[in-house]
Amino acid sequence: MFYRVPGTDGKTTSALDVNLVYSKFLFVTLKEHARARTRLRDAGSCIARGFFNDFHADGSPNPSSNETVQFLKATTTRQCHDGLLSAEYVAHVTAKYRPRLVDIEAELVRRLGDAASVKAVDGSVKMPRYASAALQEYVDTGAASRQSGQTAGNVIIFPMSKTPAWWSMNILERHAYFYPHTDRKTGGQAEGHAVAAEAGTQTIYRRLYHNPDGYQRAGEYDFITYFECADEHMATFDLVRQALRDERRNPEWRFVIEGPEWRGRRVLRW
Ligand code: HEM
Repeated sequence: MFYRVPGTDGKTTSALDVNLVYSKFLFVTLKEHARARTRLRDAGSCIARGFFNDFHADGSPNPSSNETVQFLKATTTRQCHDGLLSAEYVAHVTAKYRPRLVDIEAELVRRLGDAASVKAVDGSVKMPRYASAALQEYVDTGAASRQSGQTAGNVIIFPMSKTPAWWSMNILERHAYFYPHTDRKTGGQAEGHAVAAEAGTQTIYRRLYHNPDGYQRAGEYDFITYFECADEHMATFDLVRQALRDERRNPEWRFVIEGPEWRGRRVLRW
C-alpha cells in the first residue's frame, strides 16, 4: 500500500516539478552549401556573446555569468533525418530565464539561414526526486568535479523517456528502483540504478535534464541525460551504460525507452 504523493507524474504539480534552470540543446545539421561553415562559425560567435563558455569550466563557480554555452562537434554522424544523429554540431546553452534561450535559438536559425537545419531539444534542472541525502552522498563521495574541455573532452547526450507503466506507479514505488531492492518481477536481489552505476561516479561528470513542459508528451523526450569524461574513461561510461541496461541488476531499465545517443567532443568554438 502506497501513500498518494501529488505531482511528479506530469499531470499535477508539486515542488519537485519546479524548473530551476533551463537548457537548450541546439542540434545543427549542415547542408551542402558553399558558405555553410563560415556561417556556422559566425553564428556561433554571435550566440556566445554574454555567455560563459563552459569549455573553460573547472568545477568552480563561474565568475562572469550564470548563463553558459558549450559548443560540441560530433565524433561520428549518420545519414538520417531525425535531426539529432545527423547533426555534426551542437550548442548547449543554459540560462535561468527561458525566453533568453528562445531568442538564442531564433538568432541561430536566422543566421544559418538555408545553410543548415536546427533541431532544438529543451531541458531543465529540477530538485533530485529519488535521491535521499544518503544516496546523494553515496554517489557524490569522491566524485570528480567538472573539468575543462581540454581535460574531459568527450560528451554523450542521451535523451530518453519512461513508459506509461513507469508513470502510472506511485512516486514511492518508483523511488525504490534507485536503491538496492528486491525485484518484484523475479524476486531476486537487484542493485538498483545508483549501485549499478557506481563505477562511473568518480570519473563521469553527469547532468540530468527534465522536459520542462512535463512528461509523456507526444514526440518529445522525458529526459536528456548528459555526460562528460576524459578519453581514458570512455570505457567506464560504456560499462556503466551496460550495467544500467542489465535488467537483473537494474530493473528500472524495463521502463526506459532509449532515444538516439549523440557522441562528440567539447570544442572552444565551432
Ligand atoms: C555515472 C554514474 C551514474 C550515477 C551515479 C547515476 C545516479 C543517478 C541518481 C542518483 C538518479 C536519481 C536522481 C533523482 O533523485 O532525481 C539518477 C537518475 C537518472 N539517471 Fe542516472 N546515474 C548514472 C549514470 C546514468 C547513465 C549512464 C544514464 C543513461 C544512460 C542515466 C540515466 C538516468 C535517468 C534517465 C535518470 C532519471 C530517472 C527518472 O527520474 O525516472 N544515469 N541517476
